[in-house]
Amino acid sequence: MANKILVTGGCGYIGSHTIIELLQQTDYQVVCADNLHNSSDHVLEIIEKITSKKIKNYAVNLCDLAKTEQIFAENPDFIGVIHFAALKSVPESVADPLLYYKNNLESLSNILKCCEKFKVKNLIFSSSCSVYGNVNKLPVNEENILQKAECAYAHSKQVGEQMIEFFVANAHLNAIALRYFNPVGAHISGLNGENPRNKPTNLAPVITQTAVGKMKEVVVFGTDYDTRDGSCIRDYVHVSDIANAHLLAINYLIQGKNTVKYDVMNLGSGEGVTVLEAIQAFEKVSGVKLNYRIGERRAGDVAAIYSDNSKVQKTLGWTPKFGIEDMMLSSWKWQLALEK
Ligand SMILES: NC(=O)c1ccc[n+]([C@@H]2O[C@H](COP(=O)([O-])OP(=O)(O)OC[C@H]3O[C@@H](n4cnc5c(N)ncnc54)[C@H](O)[C@@H]3O)[C@@H](O)[C@H]2O)c1
Repeated sequence: MANKILVTGGCGYIGSHTIIELLQQTDYQVVCADNLHNSSDHVLEIIEKITSKKIKNYAVNLCDLAKTEQIFAENPDFIGVIHFAALKSVPESVADPLLYYKNNLESLSNILKCCEKFKVKNLIFSSSCSVYGNVNKLPVNEENILQKAECAYAHSKQVGEQMIEFFVANAHLNAIALRYFNPVGAHISGLNGENPRNKPTNLAPVITQTAVGKMKEVVVFGTDYDTRDGSCIRDYVHVSDIANAHLLAINYLIQGKNTVKYDVMNLGSGEGVTVLEAIQAFEKVSGVKLNYRIGERRAGDVAAIYSDNSKVQKTLGWTPKFGIEDMMLSSWKWQLALEK
């Protein structure tokens, strides 16, 4: 029987990059489950173009247990699940918190039930640095006590982590939650990248959409923070580096190298970059003068957050390959490809 990995949310930004990595770097067969709520099945053609491999997507809402069970029943050779599927917009979760609890937790609950019922022993869960809340110690490591979540999205990730931890304690399942910092960039081919359906709020698409004239300007929210140039510091990490970490994490579990049934690891570059530095990096690699202005501080923003990534480096042997200029250049190439 083939060794198959189920990638949920595989038509989305990080999931699609991870599928590409799995198809190019391993012999695993990949099956995708994505209801296309925030993506399109055109991504499957992009994946095929890059990897010359065709994959099947089940366009199923994972909150539907019967349909989710059917995916597992049709694929008795799943050896692992990488669970990306979730809603991820902070402002949307502020406006409609229950939508976030329902979608993100019901789908996770169903995945956990199916893993146990169909004897799938390995799970990687997409978590987020937002679980740390308003941190008071930098860099953030996994020992930091989680503060109150700032929104329902972040809380759905805190609860999701705890659901997994309690569940695996009495199950066959082993799991790792990867806490991503700020995923940025696009595939090196320029063929795959983030394509937000709504007006973007993340820095990289705001920069590139402004540079092509789709958005009026980039607003830097505050330059009076206690940082080296006054703007906020974030930990940007290339999406292909994130994808690679998933491959290492699922292999680590499949090969039985884990000593605990459940673990959490930060996935960040380990370096803080200010918003103004990110803009400068973009201008340097693109040769485009960006239309940006300094605005007021934005509610809810912390001055600085960046990761201590020594745990993931030591445990999985992961090191980020790409820096901020690579992230900006690949995002720019992707934006230009979208304009064609
Ligand atoms: N991108 C980020 O900045 C970031 C940061 C930290 C954590 N994460 C987490 O990483 C994961 C992937 O994020 P992304 O940026 O690729 O998002 P994305 O929106 O591009 O991809 C998520 C995919 O999941 C699908 N999906 C959502 N709910 C579903 C459901 N109930 N059933 C089936 N499919 C469903 C969507 O259609 C989408 O294609 C998410 O769990 C997100 O919370 C993302």
